[in-house]
Amino acid sequence: MMRTRPLKVALLGCGVVGSEVARIMTTHADDLEARIGAPVELTGVAVRRPSKVREGIDPALITTDATALVKRGDIDVVVEVIGGIEPARTLITTAFEHGASVVSANKALLAEDGATLYAAAERHGRDLYFEAAVAGAIPLIRPLRESLAGDKVNRVLGIVNGTTNFILDRMDTAGSGYSEALDEATALGYAEADPTADVEGFDAAAKAAILAGIAFHTRVRLDDVHREGITEVTSADLASAKRMGCTVKLLAICERAADGRSVTARVHPAMIPLSHPLASVREAYNAVFVEAEAAGQLMFYGPGAGGSPTASAVLGDLVAVCRNKLNEATGPGESAYTQLPVSPMGEVVTRYHISLDVADKPGVLAQVATVFAEHGVSIDTVRQKGRQDGGGEAALVVVTHRAPDAALSGTVEALRKLDTVRGVASIMRVEGE
Ligand code: HSE
Repeated sequence: MMRTRPLKVALLGCGVVGSEVARIMTTHADDLEARIGAPVELTGVAVRRPSKVREGIDPALITTDATALVKRGDIDVVVEVIGGIEPARTLITTAFEHGASVVSANKALLAEDGATLYAAAERHGRDLYFEAAVAGAIPLIRPLRESLAGDKVNRVLGIVNGTTNFILDRMDTAGSGYSEALDEATALGYAEADPTADVEGFDAAAKAAILAGIAFHTRVRLDDVHREGITEVTSADLASAKRMGCTVKLLAICERAADGRSVTARVHPAMIPLSHPLASVREAYNAVFVEAEAAGQLMFYGPGAGGSPTASAVLGDLVAVCRNKLNEATGPGESAYTQLPVSPMGEVVTRYHISLDVADKPGVLAQVATVFAEHGVSIDTVRQKGRQDGGGEAALVVVTHRAPDAALSGTVEALRKLDTVRGVASIMRVEGE
């Protein structure tokens, strides 16, 4: 039997995502009602600038008092799309205290202090859903939390930032330099006026923390994620990658250690072979590769940002949370029972591509090789090309076998001290093989 009392929804934030959520709630109201089993009613919309014209939203719903809205006591679901740590955290915990479940797109808050949100949700018997926090429209949180709940995920490897993927794609395919590609990303609206969060890898690191925590049933915070951005990536790196049959991507990599006793989470640019499915992820698209013991390799692909795609993920959560509410049930809460520690970057084992400028004279190659050997780093391939300018210098590219990151750092430090090594032009990890 159809329930008639509408489920009341409060929307915190009415920007690019919030306005799309409101629009879809209105235009798809009948479908949403049929799918949920009760109508959903937009009861209030908290905004910072009330005078702004918001098409399709009843002005009577607009308020600047988000706290009063979440404290009303009759709200079934609070949708938080304001972002940032505060006031979002306080608003969300207050919403739980006053009986609402929460749908959030707030990756920064979940990565920084997800534990507080989960605890508040559990204390009050409410839902916390956040599909939109990672990779926009791509279903990823629910597959990890629910579909793969019976499996054992060992690795999550993904492109979770569209802006940086667009920049690296332009550098690869159009031969643009970093600044030129960033300018293009800005002009097209992918990069924000201050692109730091994207290009320095903060956005991707927050997503990596969320993914690692869910995938490995442990707690991973933003501070646990090793982070390097793309600002140092050069056209020469892309050209070098091409010569190796690779391209460069900013990857978020979450791994369970081989002995199963710890996990790692990191974000950095890396070379991946062109044959890897992530290599073909172009422009601002996102894709996440999940490796699970029984399922094998899965790939999730799609638009990772933008109003409509992100609103799609929010609406999916809204439907799920409303259904739970009608059934007087809750969905999955925090699953952190493994309590696996997060190992530092030095313990990550991977391959490396190192470009050196060296003196072009007898014995230099042997000297360089000795430094690698002394640090226990095994060389896979070496390519040397003497410069044609008669300066007595050569470009030396070394690709290693798998080695701990600490051993590679030690190697590079020692190489820099050699008189014959004029400079370390670039160091890049090689992944996906
Ligand atoms: N700025 C992000 C990106 C989207 O470029 O993918 C929001 O997380």
